[in-house]
Amino acid sequence: CGIVGYVGHRPCVELLLDGLERLEYRGYDSAGVAVPVRGAFVRVRSVGGIAALRGAVAGDPRQAALSAATAGIGHTRWATHGRVSEGNAHPLGDDRHRVQIVLNGIVENHVELRDELRADGAAFASETDAEVVAHLVGRALDRGLADAVRATLDRLDGHFAFVAASAAEPGVLVGTRRACPLVVGHRDGERFFGSALVGLPDDLHGAHAIEDDEIAVAEAGSTQVVDAAGAVVRPRWLELEAARVRPSHAGHESFMLAEIGEQPQALRRTLRAQSAAHAIGEAPWETLAGARSVSFVGCGTSHHAALVGRYLLESWGGLRAEVDVASEWRHRDPDVGPGDVVLGITQSGETADTLGALRLARERGAHVLGLTNVPGSQITREADGTILTDAGTEVSVAATKTFVTQIAALAGLALRTGVARGVLEPARAALLADGVERLPDVVAQAQEAAAAPVARAVERWAEEPFFLFLGRHVGLPVALEGALKLKEIAYVPSDAYAAGEMKHGPIALLSEGTPVICVATESPVLDKLRSNVAEVRARGAHVLAIATEGCAGSIADEADELVLIPPTDVLLSPVPAIVPLQLLAYGIARARGLDPDRPRNLAKTVTVE
Ligand code: G6P
Repeated sequence: CGIVGYVGHRPCVELLLDGLERLEYRGYDSAGVAVPVRGAFVRVRSVGGIAALRGAVAGDPRQAALSAATAGIGHTRWATHGRVSEGNAHPLGDDRHRVQIVLNGIVENHVELRDELRADGAAFASETDAEVVAHLVGRALDRGLADAVRATLDRLDGHFAFVAASAAEPGVLVGTRRACPLVVGHRDGERFFGSALVGLPDDLHGAHAIEDDEIAVAEAGSTQVVDAAGAVVRPRWLELEAARVRPSHAGHESFMLAEIGEQPQALRRTLRAQSAAHAIGEAPWETLAGARSVSFVGCGTSHHAALVGRYLLESWGGLRAEVDVASEWRHRDPDVGPGDVVLGITQSGETADTLGALRLARERGAHVLGLTNVPGSQITREADGTILTDAGTEVSVAATKTFVTQIAALAGLALRTGVARGVLEPARAALLADGVERLPDVVAQAQEAAAAPVARAVERWAEEPFFLFLGRHVGLPVALEGALKLKEIAYVPSDAYAAGEMKHGPIALLSEGTPVICVATESPVLDKLRSNVAEVRARGAHVLAIATEGCAGSIADEADELVLIPPTDVLLSPVPAIVPLQLLAYGIARARGLDPDRPRNLAKTVTVE
């Protein structure tokens, strides 16, 4: 979801739409804007993306009012409570038409609040949890909008960020947050709210990150931020440079294809940053050097990078490592405490479950590290130390370049940890470092090698109803990630399994011609994997195998299509091995007429639990 707000001296609807467009990749079920004009609001909402909202704004009969407004709020939604409909789109108002709000996140006690408000006569217009916030603010307006927001905040449980506007104070916007991000920026007399810096204009003069339970009151020419106790907070200025680089996919048919193609450069930048020991806070490898264990937590693709990270930290770093998805780990009473490190992996730096897991880790006395692609994101503000990848902004919802750079960063971290812990001989460390440095070239070669066999596989399998992905060892996370890509952007049911486990269930899914993707890269269990491929073939399934040049052996004979990736250290092989699977999912999505950059129901940044 995305929030924007503007207060200044210029007509603001276009500015709000521009901001929403930049945030759109984070959620695009429905969108809306509201502006206070002459004691009332003009609100335009629509189902669909910002293009649909632009159309609705252009066709609205209240043009004079819309173009006169110099303050307003906007939102692009990713549905949580309440289906996708215009009525559930934000901004949401109170029943007395006094306020409008835009909210990201979840109000957990919305059922109780709704009952209480209903008992007080409130009439609800949407199915959302967020509408209670509009009613609460509307009912507390006697002492002005800022006090009403404070009073409302005290009533809310959950994690959220919202900005409120009042028809009675058209020159004021008030924003607050708890666990979901919100920034406020300025450019001369103008003030902008955004749920991320990328939603604010390029030529901002400064931007400030609002912290939990702080309230920011913005007017043309001034912003005041106060904490929960009412004390004025000194601005925490954000680094604006990175946010100024506007992503574009010029020359490519989509962001996703551009981002797959950019992987060598993204890796090169990340490795350069690593060798400059680019980290915020304390040096993470020093922390890991003295640690008892490391637990990786993450979601989606970041979780798959963590699975590779476990091999790296155990093998190269000599450190006991475990991995879980953040939303499971944090609710299973994990056994961590002082001496343990919990490392959250999140490309956006804002994923609610990952941040929640890290907060729990901290409460239990563990040391908290983050790995993210977004400088200034929430994880960088909360972790004791952060490692940054430098993949550049990733716009496509399906993660690609952030995945490979996460693995490269974890490899660098494992190396330094191994050296610091004395488990890696200098000669071996140098060899491994050399392998890490070669990853950009290896990925470029894998892209070339994948093009023709993947194109043939797409042609042959575009309409298949089901795919099985198999892998072992570090090939398993690759299989999981390949299946995730296919589900995310091509909506093809697919399963990924540890190849040795296939005989305990998924083998029953195979029949003549079922496409099976085998990640059969070099590993200590390659012989066993070869037997699994033979088992698959014996059931009539068709095989696309990803193998390592020089070690394909009998796999080359078993496979209907073969992609040979260049040799690397075994633990680095997921980086080139994922490339053909990204391209396969992409090709199948395109062949099915889908837009890979905008998969249905998904959002790039998930700030709800
Ligand atoms: C969403 C995205 C996935 C991503 C996951 C974790 O579900 O659609 O592509 O892998 O969030 O995101 P993070 O920013 O924490 O890496």
